[in-house]
Amino acid sequence: MTQRVAFVTGAMGGLGTAICQAFAKDGYKVVAAYHPEFDNKDEWLKEQEAAGFKDFIPVAGDVSDIESAKTMVAEAEAKAGPIDILVNNAGITRDRMFAKMEKDQWDAVIATNLTSLFNMTKQVSAKMAERGWGRIINISSVNGVKGQAGQSNYSAAKAGVIGFSKALAQELATKGVTVNAIAPGYVATKMVMAIREDVLKSIVDTIPMKRLAKPEEIGALCSYLASELAAYMTGATLNINGGLHFQ
Ligand SMILES: NC(=O)c1ccc[n+]([C@@H]2O[C@H](COP(=O)([O-])OP(=O)(O)OC[C@H]3O[C@@H](n4cnc5c(N)ncnc54)[C@H](O)[C@@H]3O)[C@@H](O)[C@H]2O)c1
Repeated sequence: MTQRVAFVTGAMGGLGTAICQAFAKDGYKVVAAYHPEFDNKDEWLKEQEAAGFKDFIPVAGDVSDIESAKTMVAEAEAKAGPIDILVNNAGITRDRMFAKMEKDQWDAVIATNLTSLFNMTKQVSAKMAERGWGRIINISSVNGVKGQAGQSNYSAAKAGVIGFSKALAQELATKGVTVNAIAPGYVATKMVMAIREDVLKSIVDTIPMKRLAKPEEIGALCSYLASELAAYMTGATLNINGGLHFQ
């Protein structure tokens, strides 16, 4: 079998890095998609090389822009070959209570966390179906499942990720292409470590396991969903949240 190609968006962030590393360990060719304004590609590649991962293929673009998504996928296919596994992981928060939320904060979160799934998946899903094999893994959030005050934009986008995954799973079920969502709780990444210390402590206190998730715990789940033996799982939302919320 030829080496599978995985494309990870938001690859240079906390979760993205762990997902790329998990896939590299699984023997896939890994395309690491990043945003040229938000990520320091050269520094990240150096860090990865030092950690023993020297083969990541970087491609730059903005997942909220469909033209950029097209260009990124074309570049990835030219460098690595057809994409077998897509992880829609790029995301942002613009937290604010709804009464004070501005339209641009709503729009940015919906565009980056939800419309990006249309933009990226559109480039690969039909080709996966034609080849009869594919894995689409969408990163949602516990706050998309249960809702979270101060995150009406983010909760809406992440709930949308789940609805999208369930619908597309049905459309692709006979084509060898699975579509699943992962809903992590709080993971120890920059996004979470940026939360004020006292607020973060109060969040951790509410988690039955009394700790944050390790990024590699999410990476391991992606690894499973991308595997051959995950072929029968589709349309699922996998909660990985230390017991914080049960669906
Ligand atoms: N960290 C957590 O606790 C947590 C919990 C649940 C869900 N999530 C979700 O996991 C995913 C990864 O989060 P993270 O914690 O690693 O965050 P992060 O900020 O470390 O990484 C996010 C990455 O997305 C990229 N990105 C942002 N906007 C982009 C755009 N328009 N185009 C291309 N790339 C863009 C950033 O450059 C960054 O590399 C997100 O979807 C997030 O919502 C995170």
